[in-house]
Amino acid sequence: MSTIELNQPSATAPQIPVLKHAAIDGMEAYRALVAEAERDHEAFWARLAREHLDWRRPFTKVLNDANAPFYQWFEDGELNASYNCLDRNLINGHADKTAIVFEADDGKVTRITYQALYHRVCRLANALRARGVKKDDRVVIYMPMSVEGVAAMLACARIGAPHSVVFGGFSAKSLHERMVDVGAVAVITADEQARGGKTLPLKTIVDEALTMGGAEAVKTVVIYRRTGGRIPWIAGRDAWLHELEQAQPDTCEPEWVGAEHPLFVLYTSGSTGAPKGVQHSTGGYLLWAAVTMKWTFDIKPADVFWCTADIGWITGHTYICYGPTAVGATQVIFEGVPTYPNAGRFWDMIQRHKVSIFYTAPTAIRSLIKTADANAAVHPRSFDLSSLRILGTVGEPINPSAWTWYAEQVGGGRCPVLDTFWQTETGGHMISPLPGATPLVPGSCTLPMPGIDAAIVDETGRDVPNGQGGVLVVRKPWPSMIRTIWGNPERFRHGYYPEELGGKLYLAGDGAIRDPDTGYFTITGRIDDVLNVSGHRMGTMEIESALAANPLVAEAAVVGRPDETIGEAIVAFIVLKTERPTGAEAKRVADELRAWVGKEIGPIAKPKDIRFGDAMPKTRSGKVVRRLLRSVAKGDAISQDTSTVENPAVISQFADAV
Ligand code: PRX
Repeated sequence: MSTIELNQPSATAPQIPVLKHAAIDGMEAYRALVAEAERDHEAFWARLAREHLDWRRPFTKVLNDANAPFYQWFEDGELNASYNCLDRNLINGHADKTAIVFEADDGKVTRITYQALYHRVCRLANALRARGVKKDDRVVIYMPMSVEGVAAMLACARIGAPHSVVFGGFSAKSLHERMVDVGAVAVITADEQARGGKTLPLKTIVDEALTMGGAEAVKTVVIYRRTGGRIPWIAGRDAWLHELEQAQPDTCEPEWVGAEHPLFVLYTSGSTGAPKGVQHSTGGYLLWAAVTMKWTFDIKPADVFWCTADIGWITGHTYICYGPTAVGATQVIFEGVPTYPNAGRFWDMIQRHKVSIFYTAPTAIRSLIKTADANAAVHPRSFDLSSLRILGTVGEPINPSAWTWYAEQVGGGRCPVLDTFWQTETGGHMISPLPGATPLVPGSCTLPMPGIDAAIVDETGRDVPNGQGGVLVVRKPWPSMIRTIWGNPERFRHGYYPEELGGKLYLAGDGAIRDPDTGYFTITGRIDDVLNVSGHRMGTMEIESALAANPLVAEAAVVGRPDETIGEAIVAFIVLKTERPTGAEAKRVADELRAWVGKEIGPIAKPKDIRFGDAMPKTRSGKVVRRLLRSVAKGDAISQDTSTVENPAVISQFADAV
């Protein structure tokens, strides 16, 4: 387990009043919803599903648990996600409302109404159909942050083709792996991505991935012209997005699908093996996206919502593509990075676009604290942030000092700061404060959302008392939960409903502890070999395999070490096939290995520290002693017992990080 600062309530924490007139107004209202769900779990979810979604065919069954843990929700109901996110807003009188305020890397701002977004999605949906993409076909989306990226996702949803969005920072090899695993028939990409004043050749990377073999089913590559940069072209397969759109009518009959129809497959890292394709449903997933927009973010018609995530991650799926549109909100979508052209970009954008709800990652906050401390011009107090009313964080623990700075310097002590805990697999928020109800404690994600039956148990599945740490589980199924791992149902069952816990509890993979007085949850970090680097999930095994594939490397082991800014830093222990390098040679090899990992997985997986030794410290039975490596990575003096280590002498060789 790894956290950077144990999340203890701080006596100096700012007292932030709860908001008045919020969707969940006061603790009594929260408790009433929790009680409603406890009384009749199915009736609770059925009520929400009827109130928050438009169904083509109403469901009559709520939960089917006959084949647990492959739970089914609202299974005989029919709907379409893009209908709920677009057509429904037009019918409800929001046609002229701004759906998206898009700000490009260079600062250019464009706005698109719900009406215009609807037409763009319909044209693209028609174009995909015209190219032979049918219901159930999978489409990979490898796009920059853009209106077009969101439109691509909604267009897939419109025709019932599950999308699989791959983060634009992943390498050709990672993209290839995902395209093959999901069995894509089409790819939607851009010529280039523009971020932080630099460009990245997305289309070239797609071409490279498509030549690696195994993805021959891809017959169409749609390209959004973002920069106009030169790109390779394969006639017949490649098509410009704008040309396809021009040729199509601007309405498109949605494909009505069953509630369990897979809306998307999103790859995420596990502790072992290749990244897994988390499969989400249409009805249950969309329901929670819409409900949490109202409950957690208290979204109101006049709000301007801004989630800074990328559509390549679950946060961008739920709180950019589906959640805000399902509730007809106006949202900001940003192409660039928080530090370009300077580290005041976020605050400047909040001021200019009058953002009222802001949702970002602790890593971004921590890095902006540093720059703001060094330069008053980029400090949030140099901007008018009075439009803000709610702040949120996601993806990793937020340490109380960063929380307090965010609350005071960005939120002016007025705005609730919501530390939202959830996962790719959970589809939406699981444990989070509610802005109109929950008294806040920095460093705690507080209480489970109504209907989410979270608990903390020991390794055998038994409840632990408050104040005692354990593993976080969810007892009852909930509609937005992962349905399976694409193509690997057994991995789903064993990984999330392990026998050791009795096979009936959803295992989140995180440790947690509840406060003895308040019952508030604090997440203490992953209990498996998954790292959280800048809020991005990385499997240590994945990075190890990438390193081990390098011809210079004999053995590689990867662990995390706490890092003040990015949460956890990647540390690689390497044994080369040749002699252990030292001095300038060690630096040269380390840089070569970093570049290699960048190519194999993507820049986010590059190890921060690389340490070389003659052999890996192992037990007599040949197991790498990770616990020891973690201490070395932190720079701790090795005080622990090394008697079980076969070759303790090598430990000191790894002392220096390159
Ligand atoms: O370890 C937890 C951490 O991020 C993991 C989920 O990562 P991912 O599937 O990529 O989704 C991130 C965005 C929802 C969790 O298992 N995590 C997420 N939110 C928090 C968190 N850790 C502490 N506090 C949080 N609020």
